[in-house]
Amino acid sequence: MSWAALLGLLAGLLLLLLLLSRRRVRRPGEPPLDPGSIPWLGHALEFGRDAASFLTRMKEKHGDVFTVLVGGRYVTVLLDPHSYDMVVWEPRTRLDFHTYAIFLMERIFDVQLPHFNPSEEKAKMKPTLMHKDLQALTEAMYTNLHTILLGDPTDVGSGWHETGLLDFAYNSLLRAGYLTLYGVEASPRTHESQAQDRTHSADVFHTFRQLDLLLPKLARGSLSVGDKDHACSIKGRLWKLLSPARLATRADQSSWLESYLQHLEEMGVSEEMQARALVLQLWATQGNMGPTAFWLLLFLLKNPEALAAVRAEFEHILWRSEQPLSQMTTLPQKFLDSMPVLDSALNESLRLTAAPFITREVMVDLALPMADGREFSLRRGDRLLLFPFLSPQKDPEIYIEPEVFKYDRFLNPDGSEKKDFYKDGKRLKNYNMPWGAGHNQCLGRSYAVNSIKQFVILLLMHFELELSSTDTEFPEFDLSRYGFGLMQPEHDVPIRYRIRQ
Ligand code: HEM
Repeated sequence: MSWAALLGLLAGLLLLLLLLSRRRVRRPGEPPLDPGSIPWLGHALEFGRDAASFLTRMKEKHGDVFTVLVGGRYVTVLLDPHSYDMVVWEPRTRLDFHTYAIFLMERIFDVQLPHFNPSEEKAKMKPTLMHKDLQALTEAMYTNLHTILLGDPTDVGSGWHETGLLDFAYNSLLRAGYLTLYGVEASPRTHESQAQDRTHSADVFHTFRQLDLLLPKLARGSLSVGDKDHACSIKGRLWKLLSPARLATRADQSSWLESYLQHLEEMGVSEEMQARALVLQLWATQGNMGPTAFWLLLFLLKNPEALAAVRAEFEHILWRSEQPLSQMTTLPQKFLDSMPVLDSALNESLRLTAAPFITREVMVDLALPMADGREFSLRRGDRLLLFPFLSPQKDPEIYIEPEVFKYDRFLNPDGSEKKDFYKDGKRLKNYNMPWGAGHNQCLGRSYAVNSIKQFVILLLMHFELELSSTDTEFPEFDLSRYGFGLMQPEHDVPIRYRIRQ
């Protein structure tokens, strides 16, 4: 290397060091600033290792609003649930949900949609998850859960099966959810076509699950070289499984899928990119239901009183029902809506295990008014983060013994849903936020809740299911998953199940 090149390189390095060590200065009116001690990286390592512990530590140090440096980005964290509404109802032009979502879409799923207009997409997709279409999805889900759980004649009556609870719940819900949204082998269904549905959906699940396990590292860009090759080959396999050409041969597709494919066609997206977008959607729609059902079942299995209460409620509804459940091809919405005990247990389980980051990009310099009258200035280009998992969901001022599962926490003494929770003597609007809130609240929540309840009902009706060992401990969380939705356990929990005789 010549002297000139060496000097140039040194000068470049010096300039980079200078830029990295140039510290941002907190301006009057801005939240407390904590850039950490490592230039550029800031708190990235601690944040990635265990975001909940890190944010708890920062809250103790700075209060419920502060700005931290994380991997080159300044992130303002807001942890006052009374003030969340000021964020989640802001218009996109000020606080934008999609910029970060598009970044993740590209980084994790390699999806680039040139003329992507998120508002237009949302306007098209929203109706396909509501009203008549919601009813069609719920009915299809019930049929498909049947196919997966009860359809295989070699399973019926063949004694106890040993498996992991996460694997069982995730497997059942993702496969049935996939068949519901992406279609089945044939309509009307035959024994053969249902057997093919089981084989094909198992292939989709097992391939998807390998990608799901790599997701936190993919999102943080921290895959090893070996993992990168693995991720590439899994994605390639999923793109083939979900290619538009392959989907075109499937029957009984949801109107959600039809609308989404039409939307991609109208944007002129290539078939290859369509397949990638369909894999992204598989994760967005199916990545949380299985883990939700896992935690709910685990809490019920570990709390005999809660399980007995859910079972008693279910038996009471059966007793009042005009038609025997075994003759129903679907569970009417009225039936699903009259289970406040199961609703409360589900909400309680979600309170303890749903930990999404609610992230918004700050699009313009703006003032953030807090519910208590304080006001903070936010800078354009920064990121704003709400973490409802810490507050309200695990906040001891709101919930007595917040770490404990109490199946009736969301029930009033008269059996109706409890909705009044308080902090600082003031009633909270957002007291449990597994679905987010405001403009970007989850569009699939009714379908997800219906599906999980149907799954639990089918288990209560047709299966004996128990923990393999009575002293099974609760598994720790996989700490790398904070921010992605439902937490997953560090390891699975052994169970056994058999068809009720
Ligand atoms: C237990 C299952 C689920 C959980 C816990 C969950 C949770 C969430 C959360 C936290 C958000 C983001 C809110 C925000 O950042 O403000 C979200 C958004 C969304 N969810 Fe879900 N979700 C679930 C299942 C589903 C299903 C089954 C579907 C569709 C079939 C779905 C469709 C969507 C869509 C389309 C959005 C984006 C809304 C927008 O663009 O404004 N979700 N979900």
